[in-house]
Amino acid sequence: MEERMASYREVYDGWKADPEGFWMEAAKEVDWIKAPSRALDDSRAPFYEWFADATCNTCHNAVDRHVEAGHGDRVAIIHDSPITGTQQKITYAELQERVARLAGALAAKGVVKGDRVIVYMPMVPEAAIAMLACARIGAIHSVVFGGFAAHELAVRIDDCTPKAVIAASCGIEPNRVVPYKPLLDAAIEQAREKPEFCVVLQREQAPATLIAGRDHDWHAFQDGAEPAPCVEVGGADPLYILYTSGTTGQPKGVVRPTGGHMVALLWTMRNIYGVGPGDTYWAASDVGWVVGHSYIVYAPLLMGCTTIVFEGKPIGTPDAGTFWRVIQEHGVKAFFTAPTAFRAIKREDSAGEFVKKYAMPSLEALYFAGERCDPDTLNWAAEKLGVPVIDHWWQTETGYAIAANPRGLELMPVKAGSPTVAMPGYDVQILDEGGHPMGPGKLGAIAVKLPLPPGTLPTLWNADDRYRKSYLEAFPGYYETGDAGMIDDDGYLYIMARTDDVINVAGHRLSTGAMEEVLAGHPDVAEAAVIGVHDDLKGQMPLGFVCLNNGCSRSHDEIAKECAKRMRDELGPVAAYRTTVVVDRLPKTRSGKILRKTMVQIADGQDVKMPATIEDPAVLDEIRSALGSIGRGT
Ligand code: COA
Ligand code: AMP
Repeated sequence: MEERMASYREVYDGWKADPEGFWMEAAKEVDWIKAPSRALDDSRAPFYEWFADATCNTCHNAVDRHVEAGHGDRVAIIHDSPITGTQQKITYAELQERVARLAGALAAKGVVKGDRVIVYMPMVPEAAIAMLACARIGAIHSVVFGGFAAHELAVRIDDCTPKAVIAASCGIEPNRVVPYKPLLDAAIEQAREKPEFCVVLQREQAPATLIAGRDHDWHAFQDGAEPAPCVEVGGADPLYILYTSGTTGQPKGVVRPTGGHMVALLWTMRNIYGVGPGDTYWAASDVGWVVGHSYIVYAPLLMGCTTIVFEGKPIGTPDAGTFWRVIQEHGVKAFFTAPTAFRAIKREDSAGEFVKKYAMPSLEALYFAGERCDPDTLNWAAEKLGVPVIDHWWQTETGYAIAANPRGLELMPVKAGSPTVAMPGYDVQILDEGGHPMGPGKLGAIAVKLPLPPGTLPTLWNADDRYRKSYLEAFPGYYETGDAGMIDDDGYLYIMARTDDVINVAGHRLSTGAMEEVLAGHPDVAEAAVIGVHDDLKGQMPLGFVCLNNGCSRSHDEIAKECAKRMRDELGPVAAYRTTVVVDRLPKTRSGKILRKTMVQIADGQDVKMPATIEDPAVLDEIRSALGSIGRGT
């Protein structure tokens, strides 16, 4: 007789009644070296650790164990690169060989357990190989997204002090080749902490000049290297650090613990994504983001799936049918991307003509995350693809979904605009300003009762105090997500806005504080404010306001151009920063705080709620007229 699947409610309540038992059961999916005797260690609360008395190795679980189980011939990674017109398939056996060799070469150069290694690479399989090679020898990788400029890379080098950097000579964007090596050289030049050596994957589109004594060619570096075995690491040891935007120019180094990460990701693959060994899973994101870490590299490989490393864009490589081509050609079962990618496709092909050209019988569901999913996009995707479209909500800090529709367990009714319900491990509450839980339908700060579940951040890299201040102080006993929203009568969550200065541009999380620091560095700028304004394609776009130094009579157009260039040079093209408005004054409260929310309301043409604390309401008229001059605010 077929066993009845447990419902979401049963599983969630089961977790709540016995979290320890729930996670110990989930931990059975992992191949431990020394099995955990218990799940949670709260002896250092609020710095919680999971599976701390166990030992294991992530690379063993993601690669070697599948080969040992006889699945060496299964394809582990498909590199599908419409931007270069190439494809490559790597089996689990080949992956093991390539990862072990790179790991061996790194170890021979003195990289040991606990050392940091920065990976600065585009969407090539070598990026995943570099990550896994670090995991194999217990080194902590930190991947930096290719769209960040040299300064951002330098900040990360100084923060995590890597022994080595593994880079590619270039990335490829639809309109240009992006040479990474000059950015890497400039970053190392700027950084106080210099890595001992660099390994560079030469790509034919822009081979790099190597610096003798410091830089090594990817192939020559590994030539003849002794393959390295997987080393034993502690269950709570860091697997990686991933930097994400906070409220200032200093990014936060989110630490990912080894054991809990494997346990949690494996649970999500079965219960949220409904996939198992041998299935093809595709997350169209980038290895530089958390989605890429969790669902391009680790989760699919841990589960023994085939994962796709896609080097292309939803449109223009070569057309709005690329996604459907990849799904058809590789038999993708679960597909994950950001809503902005679908908005781009919908804009080019609203009738879905390209969808009709491909047969996608393998596709069972589409998953969206990274930004708020507008109902139009969700409905369009559901209608055109004819599969459930699942919005789920998570953050770099958590590494996997806080709220989702657990399709692998039970497909719950989809409500457009809601990422559905809290996942086991997460006791999500809506809190008022005093930290009191609010009833259904009430808008407040979204917080998660401590402890956070396995795999989530235990702290920030070398910054315990900042971890406490950023996440734990506002609401004692809770983790503050930085998002605001509500829960309805059915327990469905709605994510409405950020409560801090983080904005979301094309699914990329960016800090307006960091942008303001860049603008403030312009010699003619006395004061600056950056806000995120609505954009039909990217969700939000940054918009800058600057007040000039007294006596500055330079052309405003010229200054605006210089501001955009500065942002590109210092933060990177990913900031997508284009527009700067010169104003005489910024609207402020009597205590001097800039009224950014009010500026957003004006720019987006919303009803403006006049803040009671405003110093001079007349400034809002000046802002209104400045925005009118660039066609916004009506
Ligand atoms: N290396 C170098 N530059 C990069 C880059 C990378 N890895 N990724 C993006 N950029 C550049 C782009 O070329 C663009 O430069 P430009 O100003 O010269 O045109 C700039 O950064 C902004 O990029 P983006 O915001 O991605 O916009 P776009 O216009 O190139 O593409 C979309 C728009 C919607 C097609 C694109 O954003 C997309 O596919 N988004 C998917 C979202 C996603 O994967 N999110 C990850 C979290 S799930
Ligand atoms: P990141 O850390 O880059 O993954 O960004 C996390 C932030 O993106 C969250 O805190 C939200 O503000 C936003 N976000 C991610 N997924 C969703 C979603 N499904 N719905 C609404 N906002 C989301």
